[in-house]
Amino acid sequence: MGWRVAMFCKEIRHRGPGRRAATTRVRRRQLSSRIALWSTLQGANVKGIVFNLLEEAVSKEFGEETWDQLLDEANLSGAYTSLGSYADSEIVALVGAAAKALKLPPQDILRWFGQRAMPLLAARYPDFFSGHADTRSFLLTLNNIIHPEVQKLYPGAITPVFDFGAGDDGGMVIGYSSPRKLCALAEGFMRGAAAHYHEQADITQPQCMHDGASKCVFHVRFHQ
Ligand code: HEM
Repeated sequence: MGWRVAMFCKEIRHRGPGRRAATTRVRRRQLSSRIALWSTLQGANVKGIVFNLLEEAVSKEFGEETWDQLLDEANLSGAYTSLGSYADSEIVALVGAAAKALKLPPQDILRWFGQRAMPLLAARYPDFFSGHADTRSFLLTLNNIIHPEVQKLYPGAITPVFDFGAGDDGGMVIGYSSPRKLCALAEGFMRGAAAHYHEQADITQPQCMHDGASKCVFHVRFHQ
């Protein structure tokens, strides 16, 4: 691995994609060695836009060479068009290559990616973000506006389902269901969205599909 991948590693370690309690982090780390990173759906595909966002996030922060190195490691050509569909296994291989290079759990890579993808999505789709004063209001449109529009823009896209409730502390209780079990990516997206609206995000995840639960549950509080 070249120096840029070493930098990539250092950056993710230092900036830390999540701010969970240390105990939760250790637990997830142990867990991650036993679980699959991405519950690959039989015959399912990921839209090329996801690969485009990952390439842009990696190249922007660590240089195009790092992206090329990850492609080499994953044994992939890297020719992705936004509307194209690519096997789940390709994104698994890329995230896996990054995780291996950095000696980090794949979940940390997904969280980092989710955070960095949000400003890129805001640049591509400003209308999804513009009508909202805060993160809460933005997230509440995921099920009925954002992801349905995504499915029109990218036919065949498989998007998750969220449910929303109120927490005791005035925060939100957000349920995430998807056969792909990408709760770490969802957390990264939420943190990235909070940064967009200049809010701090306190996020805990008391329930996880990787522990056998039927859905993942986040307790989320956004504040200035
Ligand atoms: C402008 C905002 C957004 C856009 C344009 C967008 C778009 C997309 C696209 C294109 C996919 C891939 C679908 C596929 O490959 O089949 C996706 C998946 C996903 N999105 Fe969104 N998304 C947005 C916001 C969010 C936010 C805020 C969250 C989390 C709170 C989120 C959570 C996810 C997750 C976790 C997946 C992975 C698929 C799965 O879990 O089954 N998205 N989204």
